[in-house]
Amino acid sequence: MTLEITHVTKQFGSFTALKDVSLSVRKGSSLGLVGESGSGKSTLARCILRLDTLTAGQITYAGTDIHAISAAEMRALRARLQIVFQDPYASLNQRMSVHDIIAEPLIIHKARFPMTASQRTARVLELLVQVGLGPEHLYRFPHEFSGGQRQRIGIARALACEPEFLILDEPTSALDVSVQADILNLLQGLQDRLGLTYLFISHDLAVVRYMCDEVAVIYHGEIVEHGPASLVLDAPQHDYTRMLLAAMPDPDPDKSPFLHRI
Ligand SMILES: Nc1ncnc2c1ncn2[C@@H]1O[C@H](COP(=O)(O)OP(=O)(O)O)[C@@H](O)[C@H]1O
Ligand SMILES: [Mg+2]
Repeated sequence: MTLEITHVTKQFGSFTALKDVSLSVRKGSSLGLVGESGSGKSTLARCILRLDTLTAGQITYAGTDIHAISAAEMRALRARLQIVFQDPYASLNQRMSVHDIIAEPLIIHKARFPMTASQRTARVLELLVQVGLGPEHLYRFPHEFSGGQRQRIGIARALACEPEFLILDEPTSALDVSVQADILNLLQGLQDRLGLTYLFISHDLAVVRYMCDEVAVIYHGEIVEHGPASLVLDAPQHDYTRMLLAAMPDPDPDKSPFLHRI
């Protein structure tokens, strides 16, 4: 197991956002974390990246206790463990060019990625091509792009330091239905080519079914169901999972443009 979350509880004052959460993610696999808005998904992502402290429990990555290591060790680990956020508009610095946005992590981690400025630009270009953009986009600014293109820029930035593990926090939820499938296909291709491990957070079971090997269902901060995607989604054991499934759009591909496209 690459990521092990063991009995994690997170409280904000008297409010319990995560309650005794235990999950593990196998190297090279894709775990879907599904639940409604407010169920604790992003809090778990923040705890994994040590952007929040834990109230109880432990999270290890490749055997390293994330909440016990030094700040310097954590900085090094952050290069291997990256996150892509839901809203690429909010998460990209509007005053920076695409080049500078994608080059920034390489500069932050320059001890691991020693490069001249022109080598860095070549690497940025390679990353842009990897996400389906090109040299004509290098010196443009976020506001000049569509939502889907901005998410591609966010993905390129997350890939800059050759991470092993990506947390994808609702990566297509802010996008038009017509471009969601393009981004999901891009993420799948990248996973195959780069051998990435994904924690894929979503409230959309159709997306999780398409992307994930395993699914965990979170409800009010508790994991209520966890197992292979086919089992959880086709034979749900918990009432909450059944309710989520019942709320899904019509799976008839003729009636659902999104499912038709993927
Ligand atoms: N820093 C915080 N302080 C207080 N409450 C928080 C904080 N962060 C998240 N919460 C609460 O924790 C719950 C889970 O939030 P979140 O993890 O963002 O849910 P999700 O990502 O599933 O929509 C929400 O009720 C939210 O208001
Ligand atoms: Mg969230």
